Amino acid sequence: PIKRMWGGRFESAGSDLVNHFGASIQFDQEMAEEDLEGSLAHVKMLGATGILSPDDADKIEQGLHTLQKKLHAGELHFSIDNEDIHMNMEALLTAEIGPVAGKLHTARSRNDQVATDFHLYLLKRLPKVIAAIRHLQAVLVAKAANNVETIMPGYTHMQHAQPISYGQYLMAYFQMFQRDVERFEFNVKHTSLSPLGAAALAGTTFPIDRSMTAKELGFADIYANSMDAVSDRDFAMEFLSNASILMTHLSRLCEEVIYWCSYEFGYLSLADSYSTGSSIMPQKKNPDMAELIRGKSGRVNGHLIALLTTMKSLPLAYNKDMQEDKEGVFDTVKTIIPSLKVMAGMLDTATVNKERMAQATQHDFSNATELADYLATKGIPFRQAHEIVGELVLKGLKTGVGLAGIPLAEYQQIDPRIGEDVYHDLQSEVAVERRHSAGGTGFDQVKLQIKQAQHLLKAA
Ligand code: ARG
Repeated sequence: PIKRMWGGRFESAGSDLVNHFGASIQFDQEMAEEDLEGSLAHVKMLGATGILSPDDADKIEQGLHTLQKKLHAGELHFSIDNEDIHMNMEALLTAEIGPVAGKLHTARSRNDQVATDFHLYLLKRLPKVIAAIRHLQAVLVAKAANNVETIMPGYTHMQHAQPISYGQYLMAYFQMFQRDVERFEFNVKHTSLSPLGAAALAGTTFPIDRSMTAKELGFADIYANSMDAVSDRDFAMEFLSNASILMTHLSRLCEEVIYWCSYEFGYLSLADSYSTGSSIMPQKKNPDMAELIRGKSGRVNGHLIALLTTMKSLPLAYNKDMQEDKEGVFDTVKTIIPSLKVMAGMLDTATVNKERMAQATQHDFSNATELADYLATKGIPFRQAHEIVGELVLKGLKTGVGLAGIPLAEYQQIDPRIGEDVYHDLQSEVAVERRHSAGGTGFDQVKLQIKQAQHLLKAA
């Protein structure tokens, strides 16, 4: 036999190249903590069910506690010769307590072990992701509350469309992040299933108690099918998918921050602490953080596509391909949490140039819908009103006169029903304020959204 934990049926060992290529310890040591937790739950169960003697179970449990202490003290050293975190831990346990360590793997396989570790890993990180989104949402709501009456152009096709409240804009993102939270919460439900006890794929003849280990590890339930338990990675695909959607939201927000910090827009100015300079151009202040978050959305999308592609054609049950499932997930956790934190800090410290925003809604004909609506309320069919206003805009673009600059006499020539009150409606602030329809940008509606959001965050 060769000197590997599974070496009995082998006559010759793999080369260094092959061993290195097959190993995962370089990255799965990220789950060292979870691997020990899983083993502790397993051995407690082996003792409680009488599968191991109380004495053996106790020795193993003590040994695992020692490994936990050493892990926290940074005293555990892993070796590529032991392939992955599971076999490294068993080797370290053997060094600690001797051959009795070999009893730990009774009624267990690395297949349910790795699945358990990976579920536990994500189960611990998901609340941190959710907390980071909650924090960003709180910043958005606070900024929205300060900007209910801050008027700015609303865009479609990147062209001035209708004036809006900056608070309405911010609350739109609040809602997107709310759905992100809900998606991650659903992800928690799917991750809170224990694969432990599925063994290699078929379960075991030992009288194990899967519910006991599940409870010990904080899982809500157990996988109902042993083959599903060791083959399932959809909890991870779901996480990457949720993360990709989250990053898409962040990236869109970044795109706007970047535009708005430009000379042409000038709506926002980022704090120095969230900006960077140029090594050659002394005047520069760049929105690097926003660009970097936007850039990292590509990386997270890549991890999603990678895992989907890896899993796509895998037959049941475990296949070594699945060792490729971890790095993308680890990297995604380490990408999205800081992205959320940086975004929250960047928005929190940015200065809003309210005058510049309001000024951008003047002379831009974004009150054209107001005039068309006004004519419609006077009984002119909307289609016809649209045409009339379109012609006025065309004329105004040539003469440089805005809709509010057209004299009343001229308006009354178009239709005698037009009165002095038309000028009131043409003000952009009025156009925003009056949009009382549910979810609209009217001040009352924005305030209502903010109130509901504050309520929601308090309850969360
Ligand atoms: N290192 C492996 C992984 O990450 C652990 C499971 C190995 N199981 C096996 N039967 N080779 O997937």
